[in-house]
Amino acid sequence: MRQTLISSATLVGAAQALNYTCTPSAIQAALPQGASVNFAYPVAANATFNVPKGDTGYPTSPPNLPALCAASIQVKSIGNTTYGFGIFLPEEWNGRFLAVGNGGFAGGINYLDMASGVRYGFAAISTDTGHNSTSGDGTWADKQPDKVENWGHLAMHGSVVLGKQITASYYKQNATYSYYSGCSTGGRQGLKEAEYYPEDFDGILAGAPAWWTNRLQPWTVRIALVNLPTTADYHIPAALFATLNKEIIKQCDPQDGVVDNIISDPKGCNFQPLTLLCGSPSANATSCFTGPQLDTVYKLFSDYVGANNTVLFPSFYYGSEGQPFLISGNAPNSLGTQYVQYFLGKGASWNFTDYNDDIIALSDSIHPGNASVGYDLSRFHAKGGKVLSYHGLSDPLIPTGSLPYYYDHLTRTLKPKGINVDEFFKYFLVPGMGHCSGTQTSMNAPWYFAGANQQPVLGSDVYSVPGFEDKKHDVLKALMAWVEEAEAPEYIIGTKYVNESTHDKVMRQRPICIYPKQAKYTGKGDVNDAANWKCKSLY
Ligand SMILES: *[C@@H]1O[C@H](CO)[C@@H](O)[C@H](O)[C@H]1NC(C)=O
Ligand SMILES: *[C@@H]1O[C@H](CO)[C@@H](O)[C@H](O)[C@H]1NC(C)=O
Ligand SMILES: *[C@@H]1O[C@H](CO)[C@@H](O)[C@H](O)[C@H]1NC(C)=O
Ligand SMILES: *[C@@H]1O[C@H](CO)[C@@H](O)[C@H](O)[C@H]1NC(C)=O
Ligand SMILES: *[C@@H]1O[C@H](CO)[C@@H](O)[C@H](O)[C@H]1NC(C)=O
Ligand SMILES: *[C@@H]1O[C@H](CO)[C@@H](O)[C@H](O)[C@H]1NC(C)=O
Ligand SMILES: *[C@@H]1O[C@H](CO)[C@@H](O)[C@H](O)[C@H]1NC(C)=O
Ligand SMILES: *[C@@H]1O[C@H](CO)[C@@H](O)[C@H](O)[C@H]1NC(C)=O
Ligand SMILES: *[C@@H]1O[C@H](CO)[C@@H](O)[C@H](O)[C@H]1NC(C)=O
Repeated sequence: MRQTLISSATLVGAAQALNYTCTPSAIQAALPQGASVNFAYPVAANATFNVPKGDTGYPTSPPNLPALCAASIQVKSIGNTTYGFGIFLPEEWNGRFLAVGNGGFAGGINYLDMASGVRYGFAAISTDTGHNSTSGDGTWADKQPDKVENWGHLAMHGSVVLGKQITASYYKQNATYSYYSGCSTGGRQGLKEAEYYPEDFDGILAGAPAWWTNRLQPWTVRIALVNLPTTADYHIPAALFATLNKEIIKQCDPQDGVVDNIISDPKGCNFQPLTLLCGSPSANATSCFTGPQLDTVYKLFSDYVGANNTVLFPSFYYGSEGQPFLISGNAPNSLGTQYVQYFLGKGASWNFTDYNDDIIALSDSIHPGNASVGYDLSRFHAKGGKVLSYHGLSDPLIPTGSLPYYYDHLTRTLKPKGINVDEFFKYFLVPGMGHCSGTQTSMNAPWYFAGANQQPVLGSDVYSVPGFEDKKHDVLKALMAWVEEAEAPEYIIGTKYVNESTHDKVMRQRPICIYPKQAKYTGKGDVNDAANWKCKSLY
């Protein structure tokens, strides 16, 4: 029998602390050939783990840790490549295993998110994905298909397998359950695991998954070109996006029953951009839009469509224009251009102005690193795994539309196999949330639910949802309840603190409903109290 959800008062490890051996040789003994320990040492309660110099992707050192054993391992991979991973083994262990994800093209061990995990009592790992770089730097991929394969899936899977072996050896018992939490590239890594390595996890939390690498990266170039060059008559300068944002909020906010600057159903909004046209009575003469600029607005919120009306990539949703936007500036984001240059082999001399739809076909045919995630998650379903996914409705980096697109195609793939997707894959869209975390200041949307990468936004020693450390407010706990107690989540309560960095006073809370439900105000009571909202079916 697997044990049921245990409280922190009955942590497995507490009584056995003295039996744990945190030395390089003890960790090495748990590892097969080809894997070697870089370091292993104990970190005292309340101490800081100092991230080793040169961890370019994740340089922040987590402070105020629970007592734990910290180790890092280097593993031989395909060709001449290696990857590394880090592991935190807390003295007060909850009996479970957690892997956390990466972001963008970043290479580095994400000790900060591992720290979020050990505060719950998880034994936590993170892989460097086999290279060393910042999130926006894809130059390491140049003529290195083996490194790209490590980034695509090999490093995560290999690190999980070895991380579990270390965990079992250290505590002299296997983890009872294993979980994953990641956002963006981290969301992709989670879904990839479900597809390729269904045995690795029981529960996967996949935020804003960058699952369609083959398309998302080229789209990143293409969407920027919609607004470039800056000299074009259709170009929308950065300052005008604020005007667009105001008008979109004005038209799209009231739909949920409350005028509060938060857009809950951007897809349900019949936005009329003509109100912004220069010369129309509703437009501001010094910040109005020309006809060609309105074309750009239209393109930003429409799917990317290729030959024969084929959807090549889904679109942004209304509201994302209020965030630091992917399409402002005078060149596409490097996550797009460097992908074409280094993952698709076009080389440094390739100019984004040469972009056309052939790049999509090339990307599909190369399928760099097998990173893109397919729709057949039937093996993960068969073993009883659960996926909880989410996406910010105002995501300005990865179009919100890409998660519903995935869900639809997952359903189309699995329904004919007799699988009810709802049994194992649920998602929710977060009103007003940007990319993985945060909200624009004039919206103040309740975006916080202890999702992947969220704790560090409040502070580098934050545990769960401060003041509300339960499965209604904390999405990782909701996933654990689903996996371990068969208690499927119907909503997560999002929290907006008055000041994120002090996170003592709450400004507002609101349920964020599992698709296809949506939160509606009951019409009575404080709109900032989650109790006065109900999840209602859209159909
Ligand atoms: C760590 O900090 C907590 C709370 O700040 C305190 O109660 C505890 O005694 C500290 N532990 C150690 C070992 O310093
Ligand atoms: C990672 O790259 C940085 C910057 O290029 C370098 O300073 C550092 O030594 C590298 N770290 C490792 C582990 O190779
Ligand atoms: C591995 O490294 C050796 C020596 O540096 C080189 O000759 C060989 O081509 C490399 N192999 C691969 C697959 O990169
Ligand atoms: C953990 O599980 C594996 C595979 O089921 C088993 O071989 C191993 O003995 C277990 N380890 C411990 C410490 O129980
Ligand atoms: C019109 O736009 C300008 C420039 O953005 C702004 O300063 C001004 O306040 C706006 N006027 C009104 C009436 O909104
Ligand atoms: C569009 O459809 C035509 C006719 O079915 C087909 O020959 C052509 O290959 C399609 N083009 C693309 C890009 O799919
Ligand atoms: C790309 O092409 C544009 C337009 O021809 C040119 O202005 C720009 O300098 C080129 N950029 C690079 C990096 O070559
Ligand atoms: C990547 O996928 C291809 C098939 O699409 C497969 O042949 C290859 O073995 C995969 N690579 C790895 C490392 O799994
Ligand atoms: C939040 O609180 C911190 C710490 O007291 C303070 O430095 C910061 O200015 C506050 N931020 C806002 C937006 O009030």
